[in-house]
Amino acid sequence: MASHAEVKLPPLHHVVDINVPESMTVPEKFPLNKKGQIDCKTCHDVKNIEETPFDEVDRDADDFFRQGPYQQITDFCYQCHDRESNQRENIHRLLDDKGELKKQQCKFCHVETPDPEEEYVREDFEFRLLPQKLCLGCHLKTPHLNANNHLLEVDDDMLERIKKYERKHQVSIPLNGKLITCISCHAVHEKGVLDMHKAAGKQVQDRDLELGIGYEKHAWNNIVQEDKKSRLKKLAEHSGQEIELSYQRIKYEVLLRLPAKDGTLCLVCHKFDL
Ligand code: HEC
Ligand code: HEC
Ligand code: HEC
Ligand code: HEC
Ligand code: HEC
Ligand code: HEC
Repeated sequence: MASHAEVKLPPLHHVVDINVPESMTVPEKFPLNKKGQIDCKTCHDVKNIEETPFDEVDRDADDFFRQGPYQQITDFCYQCHDRESNQRENIHRLLDDKGELKKQQCKFCHVETPDPEEEYVREDFEFRLLPQKLCLGCHLKTPHLNANNHLLEVDDDMLERIKKYERKHQVSIPLNGKLITCISCHAVHEKGVLDMHKAAGKQVQDRDLELGIGYEKHAWNNIVQEDKKSRLKKLAEHSGQEIELSYQRIKYEVLLRLPAKDGTLCLVCHKFDL
């Protein structure tokens, strides 16, 4: 078999050539390689996939995913990963299996259950807590590096940049007056609750909310990230912080208004030479 070092894999691909931990049971029909590791053919029943340029691989073939087709990609993941332990009660999961709104859950945050189909203005909504406090009952004020030090007022220059970006790209980066809050960066509804054609409904969700955010530890990501690295590095130099280390490893994003892994979100507010 060809050495995988030469294989060009799609960006953000699943890890390969990795041992199966004891806690995981790989189904018998998913062959492991000689070292007992997962390999291309463990997951893909495609002949010579490792020698085929990846844009020539037919992703729609039934057995592209071994034992497929699968209705949902997560059904494939759960062939190996444990469904139970990957399921946390995530209150942002607001659609049931049929795609219907879980209306009782709206009231974790809204005083009344809103109807997204109705005509509304945002001022119609009353929240249980002030927007800048809404998340803190369940999340820490420092859920991640750089969250807390973003909860401040933007200056006029930045405000203007944000407004311009919102108009140009039809997205919403809500501020509370001039104050950045958690929801300036985060969408809080599962994708599909709000009308995706409206600015407020635009959001990033790379995979099922149940699986949540994913961080990439694998070295391949370095290649993918190379392109934005220098830009983030400049921002890091400017701020004196190694932000690239924390942000470049995001693999799957959920509940964000714009992608952060390529810097799009950051560039709404921050300006630095490209
Ligand atoms: C643990 C399972 C697993 C293993 C092992 C695996 N893959 Fe994949 N592969 C996936 C998944 C899941 C996707 C779909 C990713 C996505 O959501 O786009 C994928 C997608 C792909 C695609 C299509 C990419 C695209 O965007 O069209 C190619 C090509 C591919 N894999 C090649 C390989 C090769 C070559 C190997 C071995 C070096 C390999 N895969 C090993 C799970 C696996
Ligand atoms: C053939 C079995 C198999 C399938 C199918 C599979 N995985 Fe994995 N996955 C593994 C193994 C083995 C590991 C490495 C051991 C570990 O981290 O638990 C792993 C690791 C991971 C990791 C951690 C990677 C890291 O960088 O630490 C994530 C996230 C993941 N898988 C997500 C998925 C998703 C999402 C799917 C479906 C698209 C999927 N897996 C399908 C076997 C599988
Ligand atoms: C975790 C808290 C939370 C939950 C749960 C929640 N919302 Fe919201 N909702 C918000 C916040 C914060 C805003 C204002 C920010 C925004 O525009 O996203 C909002 C705004 C909205 C808006 C107006 C969006 C716009 O156009 O500006 C609608 C419609 C809405 N929610 C519907 C719902 C429905 C329906 C549910 C239940 C299925 C729900 N929400 C559950 C926090 C929540
Ligand atoms: C009633 C409790 C509750 C409230 C209020 C709440 N959250 Fe959450 N949130 C959760 C739970 C539970 C999860 C599931 C993952 C976990 O346990 O961290 C979650 C997950 C998330 C995640 C994704 C983490 C992941 O990896 O899947 C983000 C981002 C997030 N919340 C942001 C917010 C923001 C922003 C607000 C305020 C508008 C908010 N949350 C309000 C309970 C809450
Ligand atoms: C400047 C933008 C920004 C602000 C402000 C912000 N976040 Fe985040 N947050 C991010 C990014 C980027 C990520 C990582 C990628 C993702 O969400 O998919 C993240 C991740 C998270 C996660 C998941 C962490 C994990 O590793 O699972 C939670 C929970 C979260 N944020 C909650 C909050 C809360 C609560 C606030 C307000 C106190 C907040 N965030 C403020 C940008 C922001
Ligand atoms: C809504 C606007 C906004 C967004 C989006 C945003 N920032 Fe910021 N950021 C600010 C403001 C305001 C400050 C404080 C003033 C300054 O340093 O320019 C700041 C400061 C910083 C600092 C310096 C923190 C310190 O303690 O000195 C870093 C690093 C940073 N941001 C990185 C990021 C990254 C990475 C992203 C994308 C994930 C991001 N920002 C997204 C507005 C934003």
